[in-house]
Amino acid sequence: MNTSAFSAVKLAPSDPILGLTELYKSDTNPDKVNLGVGVYYDDNGSVPLLECVQAAETVLVAKRAARAYQPIDGNARYNNLVQALLLGTESKVLSTNRMISAQTLGGTGALKIGADFLKQVVKCTDIWISNPSWANHRGIFENAGLKVNTYPYYDAESRGIAFEEMLATLKTLPRQSVVLLHACCHNPTGADLSREQWRLVLDVVVEQDLIPFLDIAYQGFGDSIEEDGYVVRLFAETCSSLLISNSFSKSFSLYGERIGGLSVVSSTDEESLRVQSQIKRLIRSNYSNPPIYSGALVETVLASPELRAQWELELQAMRERIKLMRSALSENVSSKSGIDFSFITEQRGMFSYSGLTREQVVKLREDYSIYAVESGRICVAALNNSNISLVSEAIANVVD
Ligand code: LMR
Repeated sequence: MNTSAFSAVKLAPSDPILGLTELYKSDTNPDKVNLGVGVYYDDNGSVPLLECVQAAETVLVAKRAARAYQPIDGNARYNNLVQALLLGTESKVLSTNRMISAQTLGGTGALKIGADFLKQVVKCTDIWISNPSWANHRGIFENAGLKVNTYPYYDAESRGIAFEEMLATLKTLPRQSVVLLHACCHNPTGADLSREQWRLVLDVVVEQDLIPFLDIAYQGFGDSIEEDGYVVRLFAETCSSLLISNSFSKSFSLYGERIGGLSVVSSTDEESLRVQSQIKRLIRSNYSNPPIYSGALVETVLASPELRAQWELELQAMRERIKLMRSALSENVSSKSGIDFSFITEQRGMFSYSGLTREQVVKLREDYSIYAVESGRICVAALNNSNISLVSEAIANVVD
């Protein structure tokens, strides 16, 4: 053997979210529950294969299409459907060709290409993300070479938004700073700004000439596809420079298919073409072009009025089941522990910032085989009628 080039390689820390799934899988307790990763499970504890997706699969299999390379930025029809989903079909931004979109490898892929674009092409040096934010945001932007800073977001005391502090910090940012905002169903807290607060944030973005990057990974898990798209439409109508990453992992239950999109709004159609050329260059040197299958599934559903209507119903059912679980968890834990847990019903999307401390999270894992993120984030979408009593009891015991 020749000398190892890897002898000094250090062991990387395990991922705070996906690393938990690895631990969970190796746990032999039959009553184990994974509240770690953001995945929607149905009431039987399974990741659903949506009926609209099954119907789209039947259509695709019957086509027996060859697998040539896709364009660098993916399937054009898919990209148009993504744009309509984000901005609506009447959008002036779309009719004036000021937004380009590219099919990406999930929302993470969109964030990565967007980060490369900001660093390498726009020459940005810093980004501001919420405190707290999705654990992977920091890694993605740091890997792209951006310095990651935070703005205040969550107030643990009131279990709400530290809005004054957030706004005050945004007002101090240098012009052309990049600000990452969660357009709905904030991950990890489940605490969203009101529409009035969003308008105030937009005013600061405009006054300070900031570059907003909207991450929308949970569209449809708050109120509806339409209502959850409010912030994206609001910003697109006003901003001359805007990035949007969207994901279909959750809303189509296509986690393992890695399907999402990066959209960029520019100030003119001509500027948009130049931006598009750079996005394509970055994709080409990252992974060449995206896979066919996942984009074709989403395209088939969104392009068919029947399948699209079915999708909205299935999404509504997921959203309503999560809300039921929020109520059940809140009632059970409140009555068992005597501590008011009603805040859980006010949070939105898949997650709840439960207020559990790191020690309580470790106790849940070690004593009950219930896995949660160390920040206290729990995935309410993993609760069901079979595990809700056990989880409520365990949480009530560890907070006692
Ligand atoms: C999560 O926050 O758990 C999800 O977005 C899955 C992931 O990749 O972290």
